[in-house]
Amino acid sequence: MQQISNIVILTGAGVSAESGLATFRGPDGLWEGQRVEDVATPGAFVADPHLVQRFYDERRASLASVAPNAAHEALARLDEEWPGELLLVTQNVDDLHERAGTKRLLHMHGELKSAWCLACDTRSQSPDRLLDFPPCPQCNEKMLRPDIVWFGEMPYGMERIESALMQADLFVSIGTSGAVYPAAGFVQTARYRGAQTVEINLEPSAGSIYFDESRMGRATELVPPFVEELLGRPPA
Ligand code: APR
Repeated sequence: MQQISNIVILTGAGVSAESGLATFRGPDGLWEGQRVEDVATPGAFVADPHLVQRFYDERRASLASVAPNAAHEALARLDEEWPGELLLVTQNVDDLHERAGTKRLLHMHGELKSAWCLACDTRSQSPDRLLDFPPCPQCNEKMLRPDIVWFGEMPYGMERIESALMQADLFVSIGTSGAVYPAAGFVQTARYRGAQTVEINLEPSAGSIYFDESRMGRATELVPPFVEELLGRPPA
């Protein structure tokens, strides 16, 4: 590996799969039993808000029975010990990276633990059940929605992500199929800027050809030794 100082890591549902949370695509994926358009678009929320709230309430409730796995923990250790720049961008809406201890973290697709008030535009900690349309703690209106970036909406933190990608010496993608943009395009941006690119996934992702190195297998088995390798060669 070339000299590395600045790292950007992108994670997807595959990193949380071994904690017991379903991925989106493939057998048993969330989008297998559910049409994306029915629950994960602004139009779906207008057409059937109860269905959408119930879908995300159930997913929020499932967080109570899962815990961070060895991959989340290794990445938290990297965040704590890496002396250079580091940004972990996750597409996941669960809270397993922060529960493992990662601080330099950006939830580009939002978070189940957060609610967004459509009346006053305030984000607050989400109540367990949005299905009851509880009042916003800020303005009291009953217009809270899950703080999730739906299809057709702008992901969070794009400026910060783009700038980190421009400076990155290493871009690592873990547990994502590479099916959804703009995240799927990050590897090309990083590579164009000269970063080394590594993917860790069960199977080659859609953008596999853009990675210098592909490590195929389970995140809990491959991420801890990869982190050890990185920490064994700190920036000059
Ligand atoms: N270890 C490593 N990779 C795994 C594991 C595992 N234990 N289990 C599954 N994977 C891989 C799968 O092979 C797949 O390529 O993780 C990937 C998960 O892909 P998706 O289900 O498409 O999830 P993700 O890429 O995060 O989806 C992106 O799509 O619907 C939207 O907003 C949603 O953020 C999500 C986005």
